[in-house]
Amino acid sequence: MRSNDVREKYLKFFEKRGHKIISPAPLVLETDPTTLFTSSGMQPLVPYLMGEKHPEGVRLVDSQPSIRLQDIEEVGDNRHTTFFEMLGNWSLGDYFKKDQLPWIWEFLTKELNLPKEKLYVSIFEGNELVPKDLESKEIWLSLGVSESHIFEYGVKKNWWSRSGTPDQMPVGEIGGPDSEIFYEFTSVEHQHEFGSKCHPNCDCGRFLEIGNSVFIQYKKTDKGLEELPQKNVDFGGGLERITAAINNDPDIFKTDIYWPSIQKLEELTGKKYKDNMASFRIFADHLRASLALVNAGVIPGNKMQGYILRRLIRRMTTKFPEIDKIIDNTVIGDEIKKFKITLNKGLKEIGKIDKITGKIAFDLYQSYGFPLELTVELFKEKGQEVDLEEFRKEFEVHKDKSKSLSAGVFKGGLADHSPGVVKLHTATHLLLASLRKVLGDNVVQMGQNITKERSRFDFPNSRKLTVEELTKVEDMINNVIKRDLPVNFAVMPKEEALKTGAIHAFNEKYADTVKVYYVGSDLESAFSKEFCGGPHVAKTSEIGHVTINKQEKIGSGLLRVYVVISNQK
Ligand code: ALA
Repeated sequence: MRSNDVREKYLKFFEKRGHKIISPAPLVLETDPTTLFTSSGMQPLVPYLMGEKHPEGVRLVDSQPSIRLQDIEEVGDNRHTTFFEMLGNWSLGDYFKKDQLPWIWEFLTKELNLPKEKLYVSIFEGNELVPKDLESKEIWLSLGVSESHIFEYGVKKNWWSRSGTPDQMPVGEIGGPDSEIFYEFTSVEHQHEFGSKCHPNCDCGRFLEIGNSVFIQYKKTDKGLEELPQKNVDFGGGLERITAAINNDPDIFKTDIYWPSIQKLEELTGKKYKDNMASFRIFADHLRASLALVNAGVIPGNKMQGYILRRLIRRMTTKFPEIDKIIDNTVIGDEIKKFKITLNKGLKEIGKIDKITGKIAFDLYQSYGFPLELTVELFKEKGQEVDLEEFRKEFEVHKDKSKSLSAGVFKGGLADHSPGVVKLHTATHLLLASLRKVLGDNVVQMGQNITKERSRFDFPNSRKLTVEELTKVEDMINNVIKRDLPVNFAVMPKEEALKTGAIHAFNEKYADTVKVYYVGSDLESAFSKEFCGGPHVAKTSEIGHVTINKQEKIGSGLLRVYVVISNQK
């Protein structure tokens, strides 16, 4: 079966069961400062899993292109990738375990005809905070899954949130226990380096996780885990892995998703996949991810998404330096050409160095994108050995640094729905409406980032605001706050929403049906109307006193202002 058929069948299957097929979110969420890439289907749905009303209803299904960089070092084996397509279905406080598990089982065993005896499942074993998921176990048993195919694991394996286990979840993060489904490739022998016994989570490659039903019913608070007002289902299954299971071949790179590009590469380089598996796989994955990023408008650079794209292109170029003659995508092709100049310099540097320490190997990895294997091979040629232990140490330091960097990225924006952030979110709507009233309709949202401390807002303006303009804007916002206006939303077709005069973020794509948040007692005469997922305060007086405490020009004709709240009214 081809991957397109799997996707089609999945969407139809859940559509028949009352789900609305929604468009996937862009890979780079322009106005979501909380993360570099969309990394799961649930990510754009967080507000709705927390209780906001979704314009398309309470049952949703889609196929979401996603990027997960934490797996980048793993790419090269039979199953890890940076880019993948996640089949997802959601219940937003509607159905729960006793519908989800039988449906996904029916989909896998009847619709896709995966043999039951090759499927294994896992459930949460429970801990001092959350009980063992006996309900899921009962459901699996009732579906005919035998006791020997049901495994129990703790928070490390059977708990899902965007940040990991409950202790790693920041305040405001949602998550819950999950139940995973694995496919067994009987052709793969267990390797003892992965433990004495083979089991679904031993990572030897005999078992492949093909689906995960997360029961999102908890939110992290200052006091620990708290039940959400609604119980949700968040299912995710990798299209590439499900297709591999249907083929009964543990190599996902043999699916129709990657195989044509691997064959083409064999033809163009004269090299054989079977002799260079890791390199071919890294190439096929990184090329697919790079193309998706270029299509999402990313250009290679030194920061954020551009930096990741650059690293992906560099890594694949070191695998097959001859690809500059093959790739005709100009963005990628130009970057490869630039990199080859750097690469040649790097090779010259290596030539000059007598002893390659682990630190130097790491610097080569960092600056030139030299994979460790390549460095090791080149020194071997020089009769040298690289201190792998030292390399690993440097690598760990780097990993910790990038972890705290991404935690910093996550801290921004609305992933955190704490009261302070929600207040600043509504204050930012009032800011935009006031700026438009004072400066004109050319003020549109070009960027927004909200933390507990402040809201940062970018809009087109070639100069800083005068003291008079600043005072006018602040007074207008604080006046609306004093009037204690209600904050409400309406759900409507996009065309109709545009007619109401509601404004939306520049560059953002919206679904056919949208939510419009408005400040005032009715939509028509509202002070502010914006396309927005929420959440917001219920009444403006909850906000407090708003001050614009900083402004700076950030280039390209954009002005950035910072807003803070003080409680004096
Ligand atoms: N959100 C869940 C995951 O990414 C389904 O595994």
